[in-house]
Amino acid sequence: MLKMRNLLVCAAALLSGVVAQSSSVGAYVSSESPIAKAGLLANIGPSGAKSSGAKPGVVIASPSTVNPDYLYTWVRDSSLVFKVLIDQFTSGADTSLRSLIDEFVTAESVLQQTTNPSGSVTTGGLGEPKFNIDESAFTGSWGRPQRDGPALRSTAMIAYANWLLDNGNTTFVSNTLWPIIQLDLDYVRDNWNQSTFDLWEEISSSSFWTTAVQHRSLREGSTLATKIGQSSVVSGYNTQADNILCFLQSYWNPSQGYITANTGGGRSGKDSNTVLASIHTFDPSAGCDANTFQPCSDKALSNLKVYVDSFRSIYSINSGAASNAAVATGRYPEDVYQNGNPWYLCTMAVAEQLYDALLVWSSQGSLEVTSTSLAFFQQFSSGVQPGTYASSTSTYTTLTSAIQSFADGFVAIHAEYTPSDGSLAEQYSKTDGTPTSAVDLTWSYAAALTGFAARGGNKPASWGASGLTVPSTCQSYSGPTVAVTFNVDATTVEGENIYLTGSVTALENWSPDDALLMSPNNYPIWSITVDLPANTVIQYKYINKDGSGDVTWESDPNNNITTPASGTYTTNDSWR
Ligand code: NOJ
Ligand code: NOJ
Repeated sequence: MLKMRNLLVCAAALLSGVVAQSSSVGAYVSSESPIAKAGLLANIGPSGAKSSGAKPGVVIASPSTVNPDYLYTWVRDSSLVFKVLIDQFTSGADTSLRSLIDEFVTAESVLQQTTNPSGSVTTGGLGEPKFNIDESAFTGSWGRPQRDGPALRSTAMIAYANWLLDNGNTTFVSNTLWPIIQLDLDYVRDNWNQSTFDLWEEISSSSFWTTAVQHRSLREGSTLATKIGQSSVVSGYNTQADNILCFLQSYWNPSQGYITANTGGGRSGKDSNTVLASIHTFDPSAGCDANTFQPCSDKALSNLKVYVDSFRSIYSINSGAASNAAVATGRYPEDVYQNGNPWYLCTMAVAEQLYDALLVWSSQGSLEVTSTSLAFFQQFSSGVQPGTYASSTSTYTTLTSAIQSFADGFVAIHAEYTPSDGSLAEQYSKTDGTPTSAVDLTWSYAAALTGFAARGGNKPASWGASGLTVPSTCQSYSGPTVAVTFNVDATTVEGENIYLTGSVTALENWSPDDALLMSPNNYPIWSITVDLPANTVIQYKYINKDGSGDVTWESDPNNNITTPASGTYTTNDSWR
């Protein structure tokens, strides 16, 4: 009896704890939502309170000008921010945003045409990650290109285009939006198989996030093209979308149950890159499809657990948390940038993936536990076994209510480390939770708004993820190529050889280990001919390796060439 009473008291305490948390999370969502919206709008030129000097429709990443200096506009951040505003506009939640959205369209069309270190509009310039806030090119050295920008930008504009079509404004879509969207999508179609810096601007390889958002953009782009009679691009977009979907599968690490975020970089590969990809390619009509890593898919849930667990022991603010409790999470466990702290937008992304999953289970009326997702679900019910649980079963109720509290737990952590004025920086300290790095990060505000919307039951529009088939063999593809001959005048001593590496896959992606051996047939001229993407700005360097494998790089800056549209090309250099 005593035992029984204790158990009951215990259950009641637990329940009231959960209820208390849910109502305090609800209160946080209510108070923080308008602050996040205002914080986001303050960072958009020309009249945002914190963005003076930014041209109309230009989103600053943050008003911070030192350590770090984020007073620039990134295509990625801007597109994610405007996707939030476009969704608020098209859903009717905020009908006042239209002129701001039109200013964004104009600003991005200017940036597309601005020649920059990645190239011109026809030679790779669309891969440039960031610009000055007056819309001029940023010419300092940077991790470029970053090939997620054109995909994210077209996704934002396609959402606007679809609304305009539904509301009878075909002319604006065909004459104004489509030319901008098509430039981005043609770039995605022709370059998806080229190496890219990842969204954290650090690793040049292939990146799950980039591949996933590229896939989405071509699918919805081909649907839009069909609707407005631009049929000539449709089969090219569809063919490459199939190839991208095929390639997307290769990031999955079956033995460890997570998505390896990048093909290069030499890290564990556990990275919020993958969680962000799942929420930004959420398509409620695709159910729990694992090929597109939908939020409730077994692969994405297994991945989420591995990602979250990788932060349990590395941030001291997480110490003492139960092994299945929500914790602070950051970009990736090996991160050292600004000391390597948790990020608000990453912690919120965990909650958002879980809310998205709950929405789909609820509309399906069931959830499935597979051997792949078993470890994820056993966090909430240690004895649960693989199977399909209808919403009428107690297993379904137990699991979904625990997952709802788990999701709220991440929002509660976000709330705990948000200062009383509600402002959201980029990071919060891993040792005491105080805000750190860039203040008022526009992306942090955008991520709070999408997380809150998901908690409130918001389902985004479908982009065509349902009913896709993964081709049985993957075709790699790299648009048109030209044969480029590199000649370099380099004097060497016995045992030394000259190698070539650079910014594209065919040049082994800046890898000294895999650099291409040149031939000294015409010593001291070393030569090699390589097929490289046509119409592209390509950066490269020569390196010298001695008999014991020691590498000497040419001095900075990188060399670069712009390949022609067709034919052949020769460059004659001298070792620097
Ligand atoms: C600046 C980038 O924005 C950031 O993501 C990166 O971690 C640091 N550079 C270090 O490479
Ligand atoms: C650094 C982040 O790593 C990158 O993703 C972002 O685009 C810039 N900061 C600007 O916010």
